[in-house]
Amino acid sequence: MTGMKPNGPTPRQSSRPVCLGVLVSYLRPEEKAILAAARDRGIDVAPVFDRDVVLDLAASDAPTSNLDFDVLLDRCVAHSRSGYVLRALQRWGIPTLNSADAVRLCDDKAENSLALESAGIPTPRTLVAFDVESAIRACEAVGYPAVLKPVTGSWGRLLARVNGPEQARSILEQKKELGSFHHAIFYVQEYIAKPDRDIRAYVIGDRVLAASYRTAKHWVTNAARGAESAPCPVTPDIEALALRACAAVGARLAGVDLIETQDGLAVIEVNTGGEFKGLMSTTDVDIAGAIVDEALDTARLGVT
Ligand SMILES: Nc1ncnc2c1ncn2[C@@H]1O[C@H](COP(=O)(O)OP(=O)(O)O)[C@@H](O)[C@H]1O
Ligand SMILES: [Mg+2]
Repeated sequence: MTGMKPNGPTPRQSSRPVCLGVLVSYLRPEEKAILAAARDRGIDVAPVFDRDVVLDLAASDAPTSNLDFDVLLDRCVAHSRSGYVLRALQRWGIPTLNSADAVRLCDDKAENSLALESAGIPTPRTLVAFDVESAIRACEAVGYPAVLKPVTGSWGRLLARVNGPEQARSILEQKKELGSFHHAIFYVQEYIAKPDRDIRAYVIGDRVLAASYRTAKHWVTNAARGAESAPCPVTPDIEALALRACAAVGARLAGVDLIETQDGLAVIEVNTGGEFKGLMSTTDVDIAGAIVDEALDTARLGVT
């Protein structure tokens, strides 16, 4: 298995350097920066490609599992895959960043929103329905335009803003006919008439390391869709809200999407696998280095 330590019965020894596994789907600039930061710190680090993983669910501990790290950092794009890996490592007592629970929660927008609402965090009003007609009633409840999103997904893909019931029906029918079971879980959200930007706040541990504005002509302002990133000062409001949002989902490492509403800031979602390529271009803060330091703390404290 690429980049993996060989199997072996040798118990892990505390005298050897910390061994950091980085679970990846492929190496983006972020992961390259993380690996370089770890090597700079003299850490024994290895990327673990999700396509190479074979999880032996019968294995009773890490050395027999072939995933024998002191800590595993999840940078996998396929959250469903990382969910299984993190869950298995939890069983084998290996700390991970983030925890399996946080990743599962953030992988599902409905669960994410429910956690934010439960914690009293301002977030756009969201309804979930399982049938086209009920989803249209949900759109009416939030008012038009309404936003439809897949419950799992990222990079602003497959988001739709619908202006009335006819448009809503045609999109919902298509989702139902063409999509998998996930696409027939209808996530309906109030549309917020925000400025032409949102805010990406990057949380590591107990602090917001940096934030950026993401500006676009389109209402979907993901960097992956070409939004321009610019520095955003980390105000006390941004700091407090982003940290509360992470606490609500149990994330120690996350990109928090915030929008500016007429009533102040609101949280759109918490991304446990948050990209920070845009942010790297707008701040001198060493985000990759801070992620590695947080992973080391996680190894030391055994926080999972
Ligand atoms: N309810 C909304 N009202 C206005 N803009 C929104 C709303 N929801 C999302 N957006 C815009 O779309 C972007 C992507 O939405 P998000 O829910 O974060 O999906 P993804 O997981 O694809 O990033 C946000 O960053 C924001 O710019
Ligand atoms: Mg987002």
